[in-house]
Amino acid sequence: MISGSLTGVHSRISGVGSYLPPRILKNSDLSSFMETSDEWIRSRTGIEQRHWVTGTTATSDLALEAARVALADAHLSADQIDLILLATTSPDYDLPPAACFLQRKLGLNNIPAMDVRQACASFVYGMSIADAFIKTGTYKNILLVGAETQSKALDKSTRGRDMAVLFGDGAGAIVLSASDDPFSGRIFSTHLHTDGSHAEDLWIPSPSCAADNERMSRESFERGDHFPRMEGKVVFQNAVKRMPEAIDEALQANGMKMEDIDLFLFHQANLRINEMVAKRLGIPDSKVFNTIQKYGNTTAATLPLGMDTALRAGKLKRGMTVAMAAFGSGFSWGSTIFRY
Ligand code: ACO
Repeated sequence: MISGSLTGVHSRISGVGSYLPPRILKNSDLSSFMETSDEWIRSRTGIEQRHWVTGTTATSDLALEAARVALADAHLSADQIDLILLATTSPDYDLPPAACFLQRKLGLNNIPAMDVRQACASFVYGMSIADAFIKTGTYKNILLVGAETQSKALDKSTRGRDMAVLFGDGAGAIVLSASDDPFSGRIFSTHLHTDGSHAEDLWIPSPSCAADNERMSRESFERGDHFPRMEGKVVFQNAVKRMPEAIDEALQANGMKMEDIDLFLFHQANLRINEMVAKRLGIPDSKVFNTIQKYGNTTAATLPLGMDTALRAGKLKRGMTVAMAAFGSGFSWGSTIFRY
């Protein structure tokens, strides 16, 4: 657990932004290239549509657009940023980190830029890393972006339909800034967990340096090992257990009660998961903000996209206390409570 005292330097969210690529695919559009139906997708996941990129648009391109909005919201120019963290599962390339491309596109060439590769939990992990750097006085302004072009990593044939219908592309960004104003927003604490015994329950087997001799073979390619695989029911069962645990842990750490939270933002893997999490925690629907219906699962981008969408919808306002939780591949999960 990383938490802060109520005096001294703390992290506040000084800017928020997001970007969605313009192409929208409704569930019925997917039926033109795989055997699926609006009814199947909607009833099991709550998803109605998702945004998918076109052409050579890369994760760093979406990240750049979201970053620009967040920087403008924070009234900062790019050269006032001390560190870039890019939370993503779909980097432009395996090497170098996608954050390097984002840094270059922002016109910067010296500050550190690194990827956070913790799948669906990446954004909460990124908040924890950023918060620690700010509290230790290492950096003053940190750009944290969650961005994905998952559509390019999916098997869009009927073979891959169990995964392909779930994911969307998009980006959200926040700027975290150092503050010593006791009345400003602040991250109260972050809580991170991993259980590697479930590593193969949600994974992409190839390319792999654990493979025999070569990272990728003709056989592994033909099997489709480069596409994501999931034990859907195991993921579901663990997500509905771990996210409530993580929220309870964060409340306890801060001496807060459920009623002290004004807004809950959960990772958007499946509307059914979030409904069950809310039910287990006893949270009224009015305090939970979901976006999966319109965006699908954008992995590392779901939480900042949710924040920016909530902000623009008037559901998130300055002074509100917000709880976030995420769960995904690893399994890795985590939570945070902050005052916006
Ligand atoms: N369209 C139509 N039929 C489909 C599709 C599809 N897109 N995908 C699978 N099916 C078929 C299957 O082939 C199977 O057919 P069969 O009975 O003839 O063999 C049938 O539908 C049922 O398949 P299941 O996989 O058992 O479907 P299930 O009811 O478990 O629902 C789901 C799948 C929605 C993914 C569920 O397991 C789930 O909610 N899992 C939670 C995890 C999750 O949502 N993960 C998202 C990404 S991970 C993350 O972000 C944490």
